[in-house]
Order: sequence, then C-alpha cells, then structure tokens
Amino acid sequence: MTTQAPMTTQAPINVDVLRSEIERIYSEVSAEQGRDFIFPTGRSWAQELGYPENELRRVPDATVDSFAGVANPWVHGRAQDDESVLDLGCGAGTDLLIAAQMVGPEGRAFGLDMTGSMLERAHRTALEMDLQNVEFHEGLVESLPLEEHSVDLVISNGVIDLVPDKNAVFNEIDRVLKPGGRLQIADVVIHKEVSEDARERIDLWTG
Ligand SMILES: C[S@@+](CC[C@H](N)C(=O)[O-])C[C@H]1O[C@@H](n2cnc3c(N)ncnc32)[C@H](O)[C@@H]1O
Repeated sequence: MTTQAPMTTQAPINVDVLRSEIERIYSEVSAEQGRDFIFPTGRSWAQELGYPENELRRVPDATVDSFAGVANPWVHGRAQDDESVLDLGCGAGTDLLIAAQMVGPEGRAFGLDMTGSMLERAHRTALEMDLQNVEFHEGLVESLPLEEHSVDLVISNGVIDLVPDKNAVFNEIDRVLKPGGRLQIADVVIHKEVSEDARERIDLWTG
C-alpha cells in the first residue's frame, strides 16, 4: 500500500527531491551489498552495536548485509510474546525480522518503508525464514497505513533524522500506539544549532 503525506515542512529544502535522493541511496544499499558507504552497514556493524545475538544469527545475510542502522533500539528492551511491533523505515528488515522472532507466531511485525527495493529484500528474507507474522507496507512514516491504537511497540533505526516534518512522524506514532505502548528509537541527534546553509544541503540530510 502506498500513502501520500501532506507537504508540511519548515525545512528549506524540496521534500520531493530529498525523498528521491533517499530512495536512490538506499536502493544502492539494498543492491550493492559489501560496498563501502559513508555510513557503516552490515552484520559486523550490528554485532558491534550489541544486537540480540540469537535473533540476529537467524536473520540471513541477504538482509543483514544491507543493515544501515545508526544504533541499537533493543537496548531499551525486547518485544514480548504476542505483541504487535511497527518498524518505521524498516529498510532491508534486520530489526523487523528480529521483532517477528521476539513476538512469536501469535504476534505481528509491521514493516514500513518508502524504498521498494529495500522492502522487497525484507519480504524475500521473511519468506526464506518462514515467518508468517510479518506484514509489509510501502509508504511514508509521516502517514502510517495502520489503525489508531493498534501497536504495542514502535521501533525505528536511522530514519526520523531523514524526515524534515518530525511533528508529522510523532503525531502518527502517537495515533497508532496503544495506550501504554512503547517507542524505542535509535537515531542521530545534533546538539547544536544547524546553520541555514547546512539545512539546505540535501547531501547532509541523506548522509
Ligand atoms: C538509514 S536506512 C535504515 C534502514 C533500517 N532501519 C536499518 O536499520 O537497516 C533509512 C531507511 O529509511 C527509509 N526512509 C527514509 N525516509 C522515509 C520516509 N519519509 N518514509 C518511509 N521510509 C523512509 C529509507 O528508505 C531507508 O530504508
């Protein structure tokens, strides 16, 4: 399912250009496994971040070689049996398929991403792992195709920093989380004011 988000943003950039550049870069991350990017990728990076060993081991290289997270959202706790988990910007599916193992066959893992080739890779790996509890949505994190109060845990890794309209993302997270639901985000945070010139540079948004 593809969804459209309203173009509400305060950032001095063209959001359509930013999205097409993000899609170009992450299609390459999906297609060119083993290549060096300006950000770390792959299994050794996930291991270095302290990813849950048992679940990570079961996820095949076809997905983990395209892992492009920035930190480890699982340090805040595991998903529990039978829960529903949403991975915002799931990419090739490393966190998504770890979540699917944690929640078990009665739970549900929803993966959403705007880059089709990443999502296809995640889908193929879920089939290879014979996981029946995973759902895939092609769309935007600013406009989630899920019912309100339908998710126990939202996770995300290295995605919200790429989105200019962060209020839209957090409003959507608030809408889909159940009362008492949890949010575990790994992301990039800059602790000083970013200049207007830097905010206009698409390469700094995507890098
Ligand atoms: C740095 S990668 C991280 C992928 C995955 N979370 C991981 O850890 O491997 C960023 C991902 O966010 C997705 N993305 C960026 N902006 C998005 C948006 N507005 N809506 C949906 N997905 C987005 C990209 O397509 C890409 O797959």
